[in-house]
Amino acid sequence: MRLILLGAPGAGKGTQATYIKEKYGIPQISTGDMLRAAVKAGTELGLAAKKVMDAGGLVSDDIIIGLVKDRLKEPDCANGYLFDGFPRTIPQADAMKEAGVAIDYVLEIDVPDEAIIERMSGRRVHPASGRTYHVKFNPPKVEGKDDVTGEELIQRDDDKEDTVKKRLQVYHDQTEVLVDYYNKWAQSGQPGAPKYRKIAGVGPVEA
Ligand code: AP5
Ligand code: ZN
Repeated sequence: MRLILLGAPGAGKGTQATYIKEKYGIPQISTGDMLRAAVKAGTELGLAAKKVMDAGGLVSDDIIIGLVKDRLKEPDCANGYLFDGFPRTIPQADAMKEAGVAIDYVLEIDVPDEAIIERMSGRRVHPASGRTYHVKFNPPKVEGKDDVTGEELIQRDDDKEDTVKKRLQVYHDQTEVLVDYYNKWAQSGQPGAPKYRKIAGVGPVEA
């Protein structure tokens, strides 16, 4: 199974990815998680990316495309993969198409902007695994602790209200065009075209 999860910041891509990757036994390729790991490791990429991420902007297409192409060479991607937060621009989507990276389904998670701010302000994450919680909507079993490891949960640096607003604007300006891009491709009937599904992201996580 080869999937793309498309949706605004806070739509629940990472949350759903946790379940989908288990069900299909495929790796989650989250460019956001990869960048946060680079920031934590203090690599050159991490240092450059941190400024952009904290400002709510997008890291350059060349860097992201390179990261993903390298990741796809790893053996765990042989039976499929789940893209989370990638592609995010037309050049990123084109690069995958040109490289012949197969996609079975594009799943768009649709959540109105009004709901996003509240989701982000209550989000807590376990940095090592990327597991995501919400203080109200999806609380951990023990407050402030990861369910699996018991380790401390943190708030993401880019979850401040001003940064979230900027990220939403960037989504509408640069990523939302992919809704049309993949819909058109899906409807083209071309060989290798993915199927497209739009899913309401406002119900309970399990739904
Ligand atoms: P990234 O990490 O990809 O962030 P994002 O796309 O902004 O998405 P989020 O991770 O914020 O949201 P999500 O959809 O995963 O929601 P979640 O499941 O956590 O990217 C971060 C940054 O890295 C970017 O801003 C950019 O700078 C850079 N970057 C990354 N990829 C890039 C790329 N390809 N190109 C260029 N730059 C890139 O859920 C959110 C909250 O809601 C949680 O608290 C959760 O518990 C809660 N929640 C989830 N589902 C529900 C529900 N159904 N009901 C109620 N609450 C819910
Ligand atoms: Zn995420």
